[in-house]
Amino acid sequence: MQETILRANGLTKRYGESIAVDDLSFEIRQGETFSLLGPNGAGKSTTIGMLCCLLEPTSGDAMIAGQSILSNPQAVKEAIGFVPQDLALYQSLNARQNLAFWGAMYGMRGSELNKRMDEVLEQVNLLDRAKDRVETYSGGMKRRLNIAVGLLHRPKLLFMDEPTVGIDPQSRRRILDMVQELIGAGMTVLYTTHYMEEAEELSDRVGIIDHGKLIALGTQSELRQLVGEHDRMLLSFESGAETVGLATAFQAIDGVLNATATEGGVIVSVANSAEMLPHLLTVSGNHNRSLRAIEISEPNLESVFLHLTGRALRE
Ligand SMILES: Nc1ncnc2c1ncn2[C@@H]1O[C@H](COP(=O)(O)OP(=O)(O)O)[C@@H](O)[C@H]1O
Ligand SMILES: [Mg+2]
Repeated sequence: MQETILRANGLTKRYGESIAVDDLSFEIRQGETFSLLGPNGAGKSTTIGMLCCLLEPTSGDAMIAGQSILSNPQAVKEAIGFVPQDLALYQSLNARQNLAFWGAMYGMRGSELNKRMDEVLEQVNLLDRAKDRVETYSGGMKRRLNIAVGLLHRPKLLFMDEPTVGIDPQSRRRILDMVQELIGAGMTVLYTTHYMEEAEELSDRVGIIDHGKLIALGTQSELRQLVGEHDRMLLSFESGAETVGLATAFQAIDGVLNATATEGGVIVSVANSAEMLPHLLTVSGNHNRSLRAIEISEPNLESVFLHLTGRALRE
């Protein structure tokens, strides 16, 4: 078992009567990628703000790299890198000048700082544009520079708060690849997102957050087990087709957990859709039904969220 690098204990943030983060406790181990997945307003940024010592918790504490965010924020800040949701860049300065500013804040200077700036600019693929003013950058480039700032002082743990929001799909892909590279090189990451696909791609473990509360926490397969490890197949037939008899016939197939007739279709729940498909096609043929479409949905983090809250992640 790897060493625990972060342990949050009952973290809570209230704003007057309302509660933004409600009694959050979780751990992150060295080398792990942990995602906080939740809709807008769930409390992700507030949590990150407290862990980065930028917001004072109403109650609770967290230990990061052995130091308390309450009693030793300076040591915590040295151990972590923070890529905020809102860009923290000077538009009229170039990438190097922005990095030099942040480097100075961390007490870096001279040739050490210069060497490190080259390294992070290379890591985020901005070396060739390093002398252009940030205001000439695309949204994706600004995001990448934001990441470079977070990496500059060689943090042990990197916080990334929705780093792909508001950019085009291609830039998003580049950033996700970059995060993958960081993870591959051994970085420990706390990543927040409201995109189920990103949490699925990147995370070892996921905490699902809603209305300030952690409502589920575990590996992806542990979370999927909450909804049952079933594929859902929707088979659609020509309109007006009689489907009740067909659903009964499907139900009799060994391996079909449940089959329900709908208007012009049948919803079938199975352990493994790829294995069941040929059997379902044979039975459909026997009933002289011609299939128009098949939709297969495997249980994913979206279905977990739906199962737990009755709502979609993005609504
Ligand atoms: N400074 C503040 N004053 C009052 N309410 C706030 C403040 N900051 C955040 N909130 C509220 O706390 C909740 C969580 O916000 P936030 O952490 O930004 O969510 P997320 O990052 O998941 O979208 C929201 O309901 C938000 O309106
Ligand atoms: Mg946020």
